[in-house]
Amino acid sequence: MSQIMYTLITASQIAQRIAELGTSISDAYRGRPLTVLGVLNGSVIFVADLMRSIGIPHRVGFVQASSYRGETTSAGELTVATGLMPDIAGRDVLLVDDIFDTGRTVERLLNEIHKARPASLKTAVLLWKDGRSQVALTPDYHGFRIPNEFVVGYGLDYDDDYRHLPMIGVLEPHDLGQ
Ligand code: IMP
Ligand code: MG
Repeated sequence: MSQIMYTLITASQIAQRIAELGTSISDAYRGRPLTVLGVLNGSVIFVADLMRSIGIPHRVGFVQASSYRGETTSAGELTVATGLMPDIAGRDVLLVDDIFDTGRTVERLLNEIHKARPASLKTAVLLWKDGRSQVALTPDYHGFRIPNEFVVGYGLDYDDDYRHLPMIGVLEPHDLGQ
């Protein structure tokens, strides 16, 4: 397997930031029927840690977004599956994804989830890439702004590998076949 060029965000930086996000989210949703809705597969680790930093009662569920975009980030067809989604009618939903790149995945998911009539719908992403957005919306909560590099780890993959890494790393260009 290929190698990480450098660590962009350490595991302890991630933990610290998630604690801050948990506090903000708890304050914003106190007394509300919150459902954290993760986007499979990339958000699983973020969701697991974020849930434990949210100090108010909440439910969790998942939707799936897959893009047949080859291995990295070139545009491709996006498929969204809401079959696993719990009943969110009348609930305050926080959609949680790993990264906001072009924003097309989040935009498309918001359109689908709206149809299930949540009381409110906001977004939280761990990473928000600079200079890539192709949509008008922005995430309501984000962990870190990052430069336009291809990152892996902490749930994020390259060709479905590297998700297990505890930190966010940048792959060497030759590892990406460039
Ligand atoms: P968007 O629709 O362009 O915002 O892309 C979001 C999805 O693309 C994410 O959920 C990831 O699966 C993938 N993605 C975008 N940038 C990266 C990256 O740097 N590393 C790993 N996956 C990425
Ligand atoms: Mg991915």
